[in-house]
Amino acid sequence: MTPLPSHITRLRELADAARANAWAPYSEFPVGAALETEDGQVFAGCNVENASYPAGTCAERVALGSAIAAGARKFVRVVITSQQHEPTPPCGICRQALVEFAPALEIVAVTPDGRAARWSLAELLPAPFTPASLENV
Ligand code: THU
Repeated sequence: MTPLPSHITRLRELADAARANAWAPYSEFPVGAALETEDGQVFAGCNVENASYPAGTCAERVALGSAIAAGARKFVRVVITSQQHEPTPPCGICRQALVEFAPALEIVAVTPDGRAARWSLAELLPAPFTPASLENV
């Protein structure tokens, strides 16, 4: 197994630290995400579930919301960690949330044993609905 590059290891650690705080008593599927800005800031998030199931939020959107609230707007990559044996890709809603700000985002999902899968957001969300789509009326 190829060792992860150091910049991914750093993001993985931050995602894992957030994942340790996940509120996922219903799915028992804790997720962490670390979203890196163009200028090297990192915002982490975990999933936050709710007794009213649809009110739950994914780790990626918690990280994105935290970043936006801090004034960040441009992102280069997100690292996602879960406890699954296979890398966990972002759900469709998170893909849509992320494409608003980072159509060229790099997405890296890392397993507990350090195996990584890498995609571009463009690959995971072809033909996205973006702010420009609102102009096509
Ligand atoms: N979840 C995330 O937080 N991110 C993903 O990439 C996939 C799914 C959460 C939502 C829910 O709390 C739990 O994982 C099971 O779907």
